Amino acid sequence: MNAVSSTQSAIQSGSRWTIADAMKIHTDDPTTTMPVIDYAFPVIDSDVWQWDTWLLRDIHGKTVTFKGWYVMFALVADRSATGDTVEGWHSRNNYSYIGYYYSRTGNGADWKFGGRVIKEGANSRSWEWSGCAVMRENSGSTVDLFYTSVNDIPSESVPSYTTGRILADANGVWFEGFDVCTDMFQADGVNYANLVEDQYWDFRDPHIFRNPDDNQIYALFEGNVPGMRGDFTIGSDERGLVPPATTVPAGAQYGAAAIGIARLKSDSTKGDFSQWEMLPALVTALGVNDQTERPHVVFQDGLTYLFTISHHSTFTGNSTGPDGVYGFVSRNGIFGPYAPLNGSGLVLGNPSSAPYETYSHFVDPAGYVQSFIDTLPQPGSADPQNPETYRIGGTLAPTVKIVLDGERTFLTEVHAYGQVYAQGVWPTSSAWDKRS
Ligand code: FRU
Repeated sequence: MNAVSSTQSAIQSGSRWTIADAMKIHTDDPTTTMPVIDYAFPVIDSDVWQWDTWLLRDIHGKTVTFKGWYVMFALVADRSATGDTVEGWHSRNNYSYIGYYYSRTGNGADWKFGGRVIKEGANSRSWEWSGCAVMRENSGSTVDLFYTSVNDIPSESVPSYTTGRILADANGVWFEGFDVCTDMFQADGVNYANLVEDQYWDFRDPHIFRNPDDNQIYALFEGNVPGMRGDFTIGSDERGLVPPATTVPAGAQYGAAAIGIARLKSDSTKGDFSQWEMLPALVTALGVNDQTERPHVVFQDGLTYLFTISHHSTFTGNSTGPDGVYGFVSRNGIFGPYAPLNGSGLVLGNPSSAPYETYSHFVDPAGYVQSFIDTLPQPGSADPQNPETYRIGGTLAPTVKIVLDGERTFLTEVHAYGQVYAQGVWPTSSAWDKRS
């Protein structure tokens, strides 16, 4: 056993998303399929492209309003910088920064774009990619913003954080601070693949929460199984309970996604999120898919629901599925073991008539799911991927609601474009900081 295969067995102590699970994915099942979006969808703010979005929340996951305002954060790029074109949209990652929006009602129609959150120049790397924004416990107005600090040359992707204050009056919401950025942790090549092992490695999208079982703070993130790219053995554990004649298809071993987890060691009450213990992945998708992005968690009815977004294009071997949100459920808390939701893992996928209409679905604790519109085919178009006829989104899709029912999920409601709901208000009277 060489070093790589021994780390492969170490990481495999978590749960697996197997080839057998993925064989059960069905596109266009109405209980797990996004509604087809109207080609004439509204745009929240046509000066910016908007994609990955997260709401202001507490450390337990509840979406909160601040002094009566709904607040959302999103990756944005100025259309004036990228070009307000198909090419501009597809180049957005190279112009990405975290912007914010606020609304009195949470209704998609009245979001106002507030601008940049992190002070220009504070992020020492090229771009700001996804993360989350959490009201500091027992504070009136402190926000800890976790995000991915991404560099072009040399290629780097580092979960990071920065802290500031949220302020609001009758006219709107604004921020102070967010002028010092600190790295959280890096891909270690032992628990998670690093650039040396895998030139397509993913290591990003920190999602911070307090675990109800042990009261510790953890970060979930997108990673890959450690080991040299493509140099994995897809054995019976990765195949799962497939029909006996099933062989491992060529190329399956290029799928090596991992839902990562780390435990906070430094003192969060002092705002120190710099020290973490890297732990083995919760779920790996070796032989199935190469990307499990933006992992996040919902605790409900004593069950732990772990969600992640993934692409049609990152399935490997013969596995296939739509762009959308996938999920797993544990009866024993955050460390699992996990079973794939709906038997396959698919929770909400795009319809086959509009295969790239939405992405970056985020499930809140009440089951409301936000996503952004990517490319929407012209109705009746023979080729939904034709850039001559599809309409670029860069704005929020209709919010939908899913019901989490043990190992099953059901799409039950479709709400307005960019509609949000809150499960709490901030500051709560007990947490009110008189200085804010
Ligand atoms: C998901 C994602 C994230 C990443 C961001 C970059 O849509 O790929 O993993 O942080 O988008 O735009």
